[in-house]
Formats: sequence, structure tokens, C-alpha cells
Amino acid sequence: AVLALAIGGGALWLWSGAKVSTAGTGEFRNKLSVPPLAASHVDEKTGRRVFDLRMQSGETEFRPGQKTPTWGFDGSYLGPTLRAKRGEKVEVRIRNGLDEASTVHWHGMHLPARMDGGPHQMVAPGKNWAPHWTVDQPAATLWYHPHPHGETEQHVRRGLAGMFLVDDDRSERLALPKRYGVDDLPVIVQDVRFDGAELDSGHKMMQDVGFLGDRTMVNGTLDPYKIVHDERVRLRLLNASTARTYDFGFTDGQKFALVGTDGGLLDRPATMDRIQLSPGERAEVVVRMKPGERSVLRSYPQDNYGSSWHRRFSGGDDTFDVLQLRAADRLRPSPAVPSRLGELELPAPGNAVRARHFDLKISGINGRKMAMGRVDETVTRGTTEVWTVRNGNGMPHNFHIHDVQFRVVSVNGERPPAQLRGRKDTVFIPSGTTMKLALRFDGGPEFADPRTPYMFHCHLLSHEDQGMMGQFVVVDKGQRAAAKDPGDHEH
Ligand code: C2O
Ligand code: CU
Repeated sequence: AVLALAIGGGALWLWSGAKVSTAGTGEFRNKLSVPPLAASHVDEKTGRRVFDLRMQSGETEFRPGQKTPTWGFDGSYLGPTLRAKRGEKVEVRIRNGLDEASTVHWHGMHLPARMDGGPHQMVAPGKNWAPHWTVDQPAATLWYHPHPHGETEQHVRRGLAGMFLVDDDRSERLALPKRYGVDDLPVIVQDVRFDGAELDSGHKMMQDVGFLGDRTMVNGTLDPYKIVHDERVRLRLLNASTARTYDFGFTDGQKFALVGTDGGLLDRPATMDRIQLSPGERAEVVVRMKPGERSVLRSYPQDNYGSSWHRRFSGGDDTFDVLQLRAADRLRPSPAVPSRLGELELPAPGNAVRARHFDLKISGINGRKMAMGRVDETVTRGTTEVWTVRNGNGMPHNFHIHDVQFRVVSVNGERPPAQLRGRKDTVFIPSGTTMKLALRFDGGPEFADPRTPYMFHCHLLSHEDQGMMGQFVVVDKGQRAAAKDPGDHEH
């Protein structure tokens, strides 16, 4: 049954059959697919490492004999993993082979605004776009996905997403599992619901948080298992779902080491038994396996609804068995996780020259809906700021800022928990929460661009599409914001 309720003038659709769980029912019959590493070559003239990525439509057989229409990069669903080292110049040659305009945004990447792939860098059907930049940030698990204003949820849901791994000297030296696809695994988690052979578009069961599926996939594989041959395995967890927040743990209660957050490695590992990730967030964890063991990564019940009132109508079990790790009978020994991982590069709130406040509501941020032609905030290159972000909206939101990796200074005035102590670009902000973030707007002269904005927004994609997004420009002292929407034509 679907209940339509008029609240505050807006209709909220609640799907009362949304209570879902795959706990204990998983047969884990499909071998986990691992996105291939993208091929690249170094262009001799420019010195850039060049990748090619083609956005295309196709069909994917998620279930035997059922062909599902999907989108992907260089394939029918998701995309290859791009990989580059700090200090390298990169160029990605994008071709839009779809019959709709879209963009490709580098989530978590520090790069000039016109290379960012936000809603101002639309690529028309049949057209190319070749952003280039110098990778200048610590090793991290980043990702890429479209960002067309008002359409992001649908473009990501159809399958446009992939990982971008940054390496550096430290990550290459550290004794962490690092053989891609062997003991270092991308784990791209998405929830889906099928409507016959099709991926449900979400329109029928839109909740106030957005689309929630009734099962999960990892790297586009339903019921996935992975055979492991090493004593320790690194999982690079990415929540690429459009609305759902997960709370990951292992069914046998075993602990794991959190070694990295959105923007890179921690200074020291944190031992945890659960890690919560809202849409867009990443975590790198190292798990220890015993020979012959079968270990299930599960997502435990979560407050995906934001209030008990909503949960009553919406179920609220939402437990998913996400991935089974099958240890071989004999495992290669792995070195212990180092107790020191290195220096954490984080902005110092004491250096802040400016404080800003953001109030999150589904109707907009600070009372305003996103407008392509309006710049909401102007920041000065080379400075540190403190942003206070508050959710008093009675529903869950998160907050993502382009270009920077920030420090979570406090959560409701308290010291943040371990998983929020590293470099972050996206944070879950449940209702009733105020977070203080310290950000630093670094970069060379090419980062000052009064005409091209970066975005900040809720990464629950239907909220973003409905206008829970704002724009900021980075300028040099004395410059003024001059953004205009390139989609606006002169009349
Ligand atoms: Cu992952 Cu503005 O987005
Ligand atoms: Cu939101």
C-alpha cells in the first residue's frame, strides 16, 4: 500500500511495504565482479597520464536470463577503476555515447572548478570533454559519477559510477594489502529493486529520503561471494547508493581495522566492529580471515528514515547480507596492520578566517534551492574556514563539499567518533545534529576562478536533485564572484 500524506504543503510518499531484509537468506551464488583497472598511457607532449571513458547504454544480466537495460562507462554497468599517483598529471577523455546530456564529476578530488564535472560542465550527446589536472592529494579511495542538475539520481541509479584510486609514496610503502582484486578489493555497494527485467526507476516508491531498494549489489553483482587466499584483506567500501545509509559489520561479530576514510589513510588504524556510511562516503578497512572461514559483511538496521514516526510506516528492519568472503583452506600470511600509518593532513580550525552556517532542509540549504546562476558563497584561495552544518529537519541528510577534504571538528559539541577523525568530503548528518567542519581552500593560481562554481550539497541524490545544493567559488583577494549559468543563452 502507498500512503500519500500532505505535510507542510508537500506530498510525501511512504511505501509501507519497504521493510526489507536479506539477512540469512543469501545464497551468495555469484562470483564478485571486480571492475577492471582502466588502461592509460602517458602522452609524451603533455606528460599527462591519459584515460578514455565512454558513457554508454547497454544491457546487464544481473540475473540469469534477464537482460536489464543499464548505463555504464566502457561497459554496460559501472565503470573501470582509474588509478594515478600523487604528483602525476592526468587527463580523462570522456565521450558521451548516451542520447542524453550528462557530466562526470570526480568526487573527493582536489582540482580546479572547471575540471570538476559538476552541473556546469555538461557534455552533450555525442560530444567529448577532456578535463585534466595534477593529482595533488594523499592516497585515497575516490569515485566518479554524473552530476547533471536535477538528474543525478537517475543517472547514477542506471549504473554510471566508478572508483578513482590515488596512490602516493606512503601508500606504496605501507604494509597494507595492496594487490588490486586479490587482497585489495573495491566494494561498491548499491541497493536495487527490480521491476520485471528493469531496474526500478524509483518513481513508484519514492520516500522522503529517496529511493530505497529491497536488495543490495556489490560491484553490480547480486548475492556476491569472493574467494580470498590471503590472511588479510583490504575492503575499499563505497556507498554508491542514491539514498540508503548502511551500517556495516560482520555477522560473526569480528572486528576490523579502519585504515582510511573518504580522503585518505588515518594516522593510525582504529579497531571497530561497525562502520556507518551514507551515500557518497568511503572507508578502507582491513579484515583478518581464518582458513576455510566464511565471513559475511552485513548491513545492520539503520535509521534511514530519520524519525520513528516514519519508521513505523516504513518498516525499519533493513538488514542486508552484502558480501560473503570465503577463505581458502590455506591462506598466504599477511603482515600485521602497521600501528602508525603516517601523518594526517587536516585543516586547523584555529587558522580559520571565516565562519559560515548551513541549515539543511529538504526545501533547500539556508532556505534557498539550488540556482545555477547564483553563487551562494565566495571563499578566498589559501584560507581556512569553519562551516557549521545543522540538520533540524526531522529527516536524514548528509553533506558533501567539492574540491576539499575537511576535518570534522565536533559533532553536537563533542569530539567526533573514530570514523570521522580522518579526511572527509561527505558526512552523515542525522536530524538533530550540528557538525563543525574545518576546510582549507588550497591550490595554485588555476584554482582561483570567479566564474566557475563548486557545489556543496546533500548526497541523498533525490534531495540534491530537488535543490538541496548550493554553489561556492574560490577567488583571489580582490576578485568578485562572476558566475553565470553557461546554459543561459543571451537573449
Ligand atoms: Cu558525489 Cu557533488 O557529488
Ligand atoms: Cu538530504
